[in-house]
Amino acid sequence: MSGNAQKKLYIKTWGCQMNVYDSRRMADILAPLGYRESDSPEDADMVILNTCHIREKATDKVFSDLGRLNKHKQKKEKRGEKMLIAVAGCVAQAEGDVIMERAQYVDMVFGPQTYHELPEMIIRATGERVVNTDFAVESKFDSLPQEHVPQGVTAFLSIQEGCDKFCTFCVVPYTRGAEYSRPVQQIIDEARRLRDSGAKEITLLGQNVNAYHGMAPNGRTMGLAELIAAVAEVEGVERIRYMTSHPRDMDQDLIDAHGNIPKLMPFLHLPVQHGADEILKQMNRKHTADDYRDIILRLKKIRPDINLSSDFIVGFPGETDRHFEELMQLVRDIGFGTSYSFKYSPRPGTPAANMQNIVPEKIKDDRLQTLQNLLFSQHREINETFVGKAVEVLTDGKGNRPSQLHGRTSHNQAIHVTCDPALLGQIVTAKVTSASATALTGEII
Ligand code: 5AD
Ligand code: SF4
Repeated sequence: MSGNAQKKLYIKTWGCQMNVYDSRRMADILAPLGYRESDSPEDADMVILNTCHIREKATDKVFSDLGRLNKHKQKKEKRGEKMLIAVAGCVAQAEGDVIMERAQYVDMVFGPQTYHELPEMIIRATGERVVNTDFAVESKFDSLPQEHVPQGVTAFLSIQEGCDKFCTFCVVPYTRGAEYSRPVQQIIDEARRLRDSGAKEITLLGQNVNAYHGMAPNGRTMGLAELIAAVAEVEGVERIRYMTSHPRDMDQDLIDAHGNIPKLMPFLHLPVQHGADEILKQMNRKHTADDYRDIILRLKKIRPDINLSSDFIVGFPGETDRHFEELMQLVRDIGFGTSYSFKYSPRPGTPAANMQNIVPEKIKDDRLQTLQNLLFSQHREINETFVGKAVEVLTDGKGNRPSQLHGRTSHNQAIHVTCDPALLGQIVTAKVTSASATALTGEII
């Protein structure tokens, strides 16, 4: 294959926004080698499965995808052509050897901290099977090329990676490694380039984004609140969001930023995971339910209309009916506009996987249902309070109907707005006409 010939690249992404960002950056790295993204794996010269290991079944899904891919690969090989199959992301990091053994046709396995080495790995993969699950000594961010593939009006920007918190249920500290914050200047430069390629909204990403402590140009360390203020200085960036945060790192500066920085949107995803102190302790969350309530109180003092989101886990080992009721009470006390809730699933290698008093699947199912009923009714009620009001919407795609555009409100609600399709990519003001638990509809004013 010559270096300049057009080659087809197919990337499939599972899991969090961080993986979505990583997939974009892999496409950026491969663009100079002649790889262009296509939306189907058939015929691709290279396929990357960017995987997630956070909950069960992810590995099974990867293997069933691999099986299908192998058929395409065989067909290509019959025609004398090659298809490189790569497994990337957190399953690759955690189970690289298993994948290599079970799927002999996989050419490359590499973890989230190594993808800047993709060009070399591809060269090596022509002669041997490549496994790369190192945690690089120097940061991959220093060797990533500039963005080649525009992200559109809403863009992700990874500012922090890894986690030092070690919640007992979570694989992230093992798959993504230790906390690392990118230097401020690198982030501002990337924000400017994203703006130049059309981004109006930037979401700052990190597994523990509010633990951000990056080096400022003057050698000082900057926290997330200051970084947001610096990104807000980038003209043309109209909206800033950040995710995912940890309650422990929700300092007063960051809370105040929600009052001081108009570009910082009134939305916060702040996972609490549980509402019972005994469970929080077993989870090694390092905060109590009341700590969480207190953060939310202080936030609402600064920004009363802030739209809150959280992650919840039911059925953690040792969870009793009383614990579950404490979780329900926390949810009732706070009120969430959107949320993600999961049944606990033991992850190999994490401390919780060895804990006693496993909760039966049936009870997990029932509790999840009960929790979600409460949460979904809150989502609907909160969305309904917007009916009749004017909201600012950044339109980012086609709507349900040809006369509509899809977009996001400042409060991060999905909305379908009846308006001229030529307004795609603009911030428009719309009047909300109806609301459900998951989205709003409205018309342009
Ligand atoms: N089981 C269930 N949910 C989990 N999460 C992380 N690990 C597990 C697990 N082992 C959830 C947490 C986290 C979200 C990204 O996934 O709620 O915040
Ligand atoms: Fe996982 Fe806890 Fe770190 Fe979040 S804070 S990534 S849940 S260990």
